[in-house]
Amino acid sequence: MKAIETYQKQFIEYLKDYKTTREPKNLYEPIEYILNLGGKRLRPVLTLMTADCFEGDVNNALDAALAVEVFHNFSLIHDDIMDAAPLRRGHETVHEKWDLNTGILSGDAMLIMAYQLFENYPPDVFQKLAILFSKTALEVCEGQQYDIDFETRDAVSIAEYLKMIEYKTAVLVGAAMKMGAIIVNASEADQNRCYEFGRNLGIAFQLQDDYLDAFGNPETFGKQVGGDIIENKKTYLYLKALEFSSEKDQQQLKQLFSTEGNDTKDKVEIVKQIFTASGSSEATKKAIQHYTSKAFSVLELLTISEDKKQLLKTFGTSLMDRTV
Ligand code: IPE
Ligand code: IPE
Ligand code: MG
Ligand code: MG
Ligand code: MG
Repeated sequence: MKAIETYQKQFIEYLKDYKTTREPKNLYEPIEYILNLGGKRLRPVLTLMTADCFEGDVNNALDAALAVEVFHNFSLIHDDIMDAAPLRRGHETVHEKWDLNTGILSGDAMLIMAYQLFENYPPDVFQKLAILFSKTALEVCEGQQYDIDFETRDAVSIAEYLKMIEYKTAVLVGAAMKMGAIIVNASEADQNRCYEFGRNLGIAFQLQDDYLDAFGNPETFGKQVGGDIIENKKTYLYLKALEFSSEKDQQQLKQLFSTEGNDTKDKVEIVKQIFTASGSSEATKKAIQHYTSKAFSVLELLTISEDKKQLLKTFGTSLMDRTV
């Protein structure tokens, strides 16, 4: 059985040969920058791993894996603009290092470059990948719009939150896996199971992302800790804290999440205390486990070897324990 790092290495080697710099420099340098800033490479690893699960040629999945990673990095450039984020992977965000216009246009170019990578597949595979990709990319936009809308909306339900994170994050994880399955010609039933596995894992992944945004270690997290609180994001932590809190804490939370700017340091500390005291941080941990288990239950139906199921499980478990 291959270790997860093997797929990661294989992907990074392939990425090295992906030439992105040409003229005009101000368009392509930010692309080079973000793609080489590191990151967990979770989505491309899943594309490769899924292809391998069906005993297919992993090399054939490299272009799709790269397309998914290029798309993901495009979404990060635009997400950092939308979230006014100063830090990404421990470095300046693209719009901080360059400027807003650069972030917008380099991001647009990356979306197109992601699509272009599908041209390396034969027409029937190209069509399947493009159909899945278009649907997924549009859903990511929908999820991102909900995320922004919710910042200034008073009442957001848990169901609405879950739909928002499914769209902005989980569908891409599902699609990354389904692409691997498509490329190696797995049965349609298995392709869809892979998607389901990835979708549930993706929900757990975004819940964990929200958790780390508040409780991650600023030394190692690579993003601005408390960024979601500063931006009034309606995360699971926030929604559950409202649900579990006394009237007084509810009022304070709502008040803190109704203003922008000033006193952010105090705000972050007070809100984190409420998250912990109310039990919402515990509830978030439970929800992460719940969706990870849900993903694992899909594995039972997949027609792959026990070894490969174990590999996917190990990967899912490692995501739950991550600190970045
Ligand atoms: C960040 O994704 C955006 C989310 C969907 C939470 P990752 O946490 O996978 O970011 P990198 O690529 O590892 O930096
Ligand atoms: C990002 O969600 C989802 C996409 C980039 C589509 P977040 O805004 O929580 O991601 P981070 O925390 O900035 O990485
Ligand atoms: Mg963000
Ligand atoms: Mg965001
Ligand atoms: Mg986040």
